[in-house]
Amino acid sequence: MPASPKTFHVKSFGCQMNAYDGERMAELMAAQGLTATDDAAAADLVVLNTCHIREKATEKVYSDIGRLRKDAGEQGRKPMIAVAGCVAQAEGAEIIRRAKVDVVVGPQAYHNLPELVARAAAGEAALDTDMPVESKFGHLPGRRKVNPSAFLTVQEGCDKFCTYCVVPYTRGAEVSRPFAAIVDEAKALVDAGAREITLLGQNVNAWNDAEDRGLHGLIRALDRIPGLHRIRYTTSHPNDMTQGLIDAHRDVESLMPFLHLPVQSGSDRILKAMNRQHTRDSYMRLIDRVRAARPDIALSGDFIVGFPGETEADFADTLSLVDTMGHAQAFSFKYSPRPGTPAATMADQVPAEVMDDRLQRLQAALNRDQQAFNAATVGRTCTILIERRGKLPGQMLGKSPWLQSVHLIGDHAIGDLVEVALVSAGPNSLAGEVTVRAAA
Ligand code: 5AD
Ligand code: SF4
Repeated sequence: MPASPKTFHVKSFGCQMNAYDGERMAELMAAQGLTATDDAAAADLVVLNTCHIREKATEKVYSDIGRLRKDAGEQGRKPMIAVAGCVAQAEGAEIIRRAKVDVVVGPQAYHNLPELVARAAAGEAALDTDMPVESKFGHLPGRRKVNPSAFLTVQEGCDKFCTYCVVPYTRGAEVSRPFAAIVDEAKALVDAGAREITLLGQNVNAWNDAEDRGLHGLIRALDRIPGLHRIRYTTSHPNDMTQGLIDAHRDVESLMPFLHLPVQSGSDRILKAMNRQHTRDSYMRLIDRVRAARPDIALSGDFIVGFPGETEADFADTLSLVDTMGHAQAFSFKYSPRPGTPAATMADQVPAEVMDDRLQRLQAALNRDQQAFNAATVGRTCTILIERRGKLPGQMLGKSPWLQSVHLIGDHAIGDLVEVALVSAGPNSLAGEVTVRAAA
């Protein structure tokens, strides 16, 4: 039976929402008097905050548990292991049965982590994958020290049911957090050191409240918080991209010129089979409207290659869409059948070698466009939010408004906003030269 833990380590996999949940779990355990440690093998309690979106997520969790036990065992230790996140939600009690872990807690129930840990320490079963109506957020401690760029979950879950995706099952239905709670948390984040806040949600642009403020109304309210210089949001669905939100990109100075708007495929036939509920053309027209409102906006997205039934002609449609859009950056994935989703049992699954080949060709096109976007920003002057120290002496790293990594030499503190001229661009980062220091 594991003793009551004194130290803990949270390891988060996957998306930014998991990173946010991991931070909140860490704050929760710290509020219980436990001490955080960077070394998982030396911690009394290890929380594996898992992701289920692609590939052999479940098998990976089991091998991670095995490795953790081995590493800790070499130090004569036997940590309490908690599995959180989307694999916990999907697998539930099976994880306890198969891997003999101590705690299993789903993404909507982690406010109960202290109680579950206490139950496990007392030798009782500790499983909670409920999706309670009452939100976990009201049960979490306040925000403490945070990075200059902080996350804030404002919306969870998804009602879109794309046929390849597990999110509607693991994260549940779309739920928006209340306006006042979000504004309060944003103010607390700024007090704790945040200069930039990224609003998170599986479908963040579906955020709304009883007053019908919409995400743009929330952004306009956050824009009025003194000391909050930058606002971003991710991830969005094309069908929830309202005119109000597009207008906010034109009007709200603190709303950064960056839009992560996944399109997944350029083929109407595949988009239909994916149940995306938009077409190639409607996506392109939408981006035209966004660019009319904010001409310098950096476009980002997600793509899936090898969805069941995808032919070479369908894939050519994706490549031609990429050619016309000019993405500033994008993520691309091989289709991965997720148990329980409609696409997993569709006919015409695409062979692995075909997927590999298409992914390579797509990534070559996206890399080309990313380099072109970066090169086109050279010569511009912009503000960089300094996030950390670089490897070279005096080097600092930060982000441009277009979410590019920029390195510069200068006597600046983490959290400073610095005016720079962008002087050269590589594929993944740019060099900046300081002009004048912007107001912090
Ligand atoms: N296979 C491959 N990629 C997927 N994504 C979601 N589900 C799958 C899947 N089953 C990708 C989508 C989504 C991103 C978060 O992950 O592109 O936008
Ligand atoms: Fe998954 Fe589609 Fe919802 Fe995105 S919109 S979370 S891809 S179901």
